[in-house]
Amino acid sequence: MRHDGAVQQDDSAGRPELSRAGYRQVDGDAAAQATGRWWSAEAPAYLEEHGSFLGDVDFCWCPEGLRESQAQLLGPLEQLRGERVLEVGAGAAQCSRWLRSQGVDAVATDVAPGMVEAAALLDRRTGITVPIQVADARELPFEDGSFDVAFTAFGAIPFVPDADAVHREIARVLRPGGRWVFSVTHPLRWAFPDDPTAAGLVAVRSYFDRTPYVETDAQDRPIYAEFHRTIGDHVRDVVRAGFAIRDLLEPAWPEDNREVWGGWGPERGAVLPGTLIVSAALA
Ligand SMILES: C[S@@+](CC[C@H](N)C(=O)[O-])C[C@H]1O[C@@H](n2cnc3c(N)ncnc32)[C@H](O)[C@@H]1O
Repeated sequence: MRHDGAVQQDDSAGRPELSRAGYRQVDGDAAAQATGRWWSAEAPAYLEEHGSFLGDVDFCWCPEGLRESQAQLLGPLEQLRGERVLEVGAGAAQCSRWLRSQGVDAVATDVAPGMVEAAALLDRRTGITVPIQVADARELPFEDGSFDVAFTAFGAIPFVPDADAVHREIARVLRPGGRWVFSVTHPLRWAFPDDPTAAGLVAVRSYFDRTPYVETDAQDRPIYAEFHRTIGDHVRDVVRAGFAIRDLLEPAWPEDNREVWGGWGPERGAVLPGTLIVSAALA
């Protein structure tokens, strides 16, 4: 999402002040916990910036603007209406809200209490309530086999050192044959700066270097981190959790999308993929 250290933040909303940013080894658990807190504090500013693109009742998979209504990656709506659907790393649960507006029994979770509060705000604004609770995607408060489908659009996976634990937990809460679909920043993007213009087309680091991107405060404590996985890493994680991969999607940038979102935008999007979507099902 952001890995060139260019983003500064202030502490006006009680957020820890960024002191240092870059690629370095870090205590993964501490960094993941701090990142959850970061998302919680950042929720209002994030929604202020990206809320209109995401919509309050809309299911957008990625900055390219691919909608579930077009892509049907979770399956046809007629089928979903008879199934139980779980969203993890849901943010303000816009995707689940859209599913519920279509008559689908969708519930949501996110690790950040601030995001869950933002979801409640959108519920009131739209009149469509999403059952949502605070939960780490690596430790879900649900019975084994209690869902038919699980998904996330850019949630959880980039922010934990052990994404394999997310896939295992999703496998646990899905019934046999259950589907799991998730979008992440395209792993190729790790090699390039967070710049959506032509200047962002020159690789500046190795695609193979898994050293995480970490922001720390003045006491050198992590406040935000992202963890890189190559495409092969994602495939191995998912397969080892018991899934068969059905598709790997790399949405092209549509010519009519002029929106810039951090490192995503039309100029670079015409040349490099920005999003990877993995569609899998339990064997
Ligand atoms: C980029 S947002 C994606 C949410 C939504 N689809 C959107 O586009 O706004 C990332 C979300 O992942 C959540 N997240 C980060 N780490 C998580 C974890 N370990 N478990 C569950 N959610 C997590 C954050 O709190 C945040 O809401």
